[in-house]
Amino acid sequence: MTDSAALRRRLAAAVPVEDPAWRAALEAVPRELFLGNGLFRFDGHHWTPAHRDRTPPGEWLELVYQDTTWVTQVDGTTVIDATGPVTGRPTSSSTLPSLVVRMLDVAGIGEGQKVLEIGTGTGYSTAVLCSRLGEKNVYSVEYDPGLAAAAAEHLHAAGYRPTLITGDGLAGHKDGAEYDHIVATCAVRHIPLSWLRQVRSGGTITTTLSGWMLASGLVRLTVRDDGSATGRFRSDEIGYMLARPHERPPRPDVHLYPGRTGSAGVDPAFLEDWTGHFVAQLGAPSAEFMTTGTGVILVDVATGSQAWTEPAGNGWTVHQHGPLNLWDQVEAALALWQSAGSPPQSGFGMTVEPDGTQRVWIGAPDGPSWELPV
Ligand SMILES: C[S@@+](CC[C@H](N)C(=O)[O-])C[C@H]1O[C@@H](n2cnc3c(N)ncnc32)[C@H](O)[C@@H]1O
Repeated sequence: MTDSAALRRRLAAAVPVEDPAWRAALEAVPRELFLGNGLFRFDGHHWTPAHRDRTPPGEWLELVYQDTTWVTQVDGTTVIDATGPVTGRPTSSSTLPSLVVRMLDVAGIGEGQKVLEIGTGTGYSTAVLCSRLGEKNVYSVEYDPGLAAAAAEHLHAAGYRPTLITGDGLAGHKDGAEYDHIVATCAVRHIPLSWLRQVRSGGTITTTLSGWMLASGLVRLTVRDDGSATGRFRSDEIGYMLARPHERPPRPDVHLYPGRTGSAGVDPAFLEDWTGHFVAQLGAPSAEFMTTGTGVILVDVATGSQAWTEPAGNGWTVHQHGPLNLWDQVEAALALWQSAGSPPQSGFGMTVEPDGTQRVWIGAPDGPSWELPV
């Protein structure tokens, strides 16, 4: 199929939506205008640029309309600047369209409402918002000036002129406040207080809560009269790249030390379960997580603490080194989750107090909980 409108209809029909108005928005926005000159494809090791002008037009449009996240920048390098395959971490992308509308569905956005989006990226999701709400109701912040300029070009080419801001979306955008909704298409380690202050009472904040283990949970918070916000996680197993100021600190190569050796009380494989991983991150929020094939490694760059596991007979040995007992923290978090019946992520919620204190809880705000690092 080489007809963009037909491909948009096919995509819109295939994507699950709660509010059919988002289906109409998917039909209206030509995604090809937002992918610029190319995208990166991953082969498990390298990101290889695929250039629009070196791909037959029909093939290109088929790529564009796959319900796939297309990475557009890797460690700050865009396709235009890449002379060949690159390695590194994605730093921008065009989110898969089904997730774009899922976030907007979860937020509960309605006609005529004002939305602040964090993470303009290519501008595609911004355009979807404009198509439904009208450009005057849409504000979007992008951290990276080069990406922000490209997104402005894409949006103008599509006929939309929302308010675009280049800067740190963790500060929100005071001049446009109050918003009915904030939707973040990058993840945060904790909710910025500025977001609470810029959303009207009864308005919402929809974001993924992530951290340095890269575990993730989708949450929608409702802002209350007293300036606090509270809400529940959804069961969606989705993640976004971390907001740049919340990214993990640079980490030198890891050398494993024998440390304090003992038996692990739980199978390290629970860290690979979606909710188990999230719980581990809540218990040891300063730790990064890696797998070794036979076990796991936790590393906290700031304190030099580490924990790593290896199989031992029918169980596992754990080695902990440095001031923090990272594995003990993880086991304590797991025990708390298990004592609450090991609910899935949809059994979790979080509350942010007006002073910025924030807790993720199980069941109800007074249930078992973890305070987030802020
Ligand atoms: C997954 S991409 C966004 C996808 C985009 N909404 C789309 O549909 O194309 C995440 C974006 O968030 C941006 N970002 C990261 N940290 C940010 C921050 N603190 N403020 C604003 N944007 C940020 C990244 O540069 C990246 O472009």
